Amino acid sequence: MKKGKKLYEGKAKIIYATSDKSLVIQHFKDDATAFNNLKKANIEGKGVLNNRISEHILINLGQVGIKNHLVKRINMREQLIKFVEIIPIEFIVRNIATGSLTKRLGIEDGTVLDEPLIEYCLKDDKLGDPLISKEHILAFKWAEKKELEKIDKQLHRINDFMVGMFRGVGIKLVDFKVEFGRFKENGKIEVILADEISPDTCRLWDNVTEKKLDKDRFRKDLGNLIDAYQDVARRLGILHEQSNIRPIKFSKPTAVKIKRNK
Ligand code: TMP
Ligand code: ASP
Repeated sequence: MKKGKKLYEGKAKIIYATSDKSLVIQHFKDDATAFNNLKKANIEGKGVLNNRISEHILINLGQVGIKNHLVKRINMREQLIKFVEIIPIEFIVRNIATGSLTKRLGIEDGTVLDEPLIEYCLKDDKLGDPLISKEHILAFKWAEKKELEKIDKQLHRINDFMVGMFRGVGIKLVDFKVEFGRFKENGKIEVILADEISPDTCRLWDNVTEKKLDKDRFRKDLGNLIDAYQDVARRLGILHEQSNIRPIKFSKPTAVKIKRNK
């Protein structure tokens, strides 16, 4: 599949056209941003890890009937995906209260929620991705009622599946954000899961120690982000125990004096 021109560049990914109009290439960058682009960094190896982790999760979700945009991974940083029209909403699912929920409503950090809580945010960096209601979505026609009903059902199924998947490897799925898009095929339009699911878009805590294994390491300046993402990848069986996805850096050779025997 030939890589065509750049169609869109976001904060963490780039989308390229291909020779097939219904498919595009999603390229994972190493850029990390938080607080709507106020905080930025380039973290070597992050894109490669997110490409692999997102691929793993979307393949597994596909196998339990959650249709999504993934076609196949092409290389370390890129995957072939279906070209969708993204619905401009960030769909957030929470199992444990933390992050903006605790700040906004004064709920104690770490409160375990009786039921998964769904929140909707408008995807608009300039407005700071404001929290909106279902009624806003319908009033401003960001999605249709039927689409929203289907998405809500899928959010619960995605959450159930991912909670189980992560629990099996000793990780609590605290919350996550997903996006959906409209895919046109044979004159029909279908809403499918899109974007990525990775430690950039989830909060993942170690089951025992509650160590953060996600982008909060960057947001909160906790350091060792790559080690945490690698830990997630290893536990999911994507990386082998000893492997390190970062390119090996060779230290400068030190000069050694060789004594010659005269
Ligand atoms: P929040 O607590 O900051 O609202 O984040 C909720 C979840 O959504 C968390 O897993 C991080 C994820 N998220 C994104 O993926 N992108 C975003 O722009 C924001 C604000 C949150
Ligand atoms: N993704 C958002 C940003 O780039 C916010 C976040 O993930 O915290 O600023």
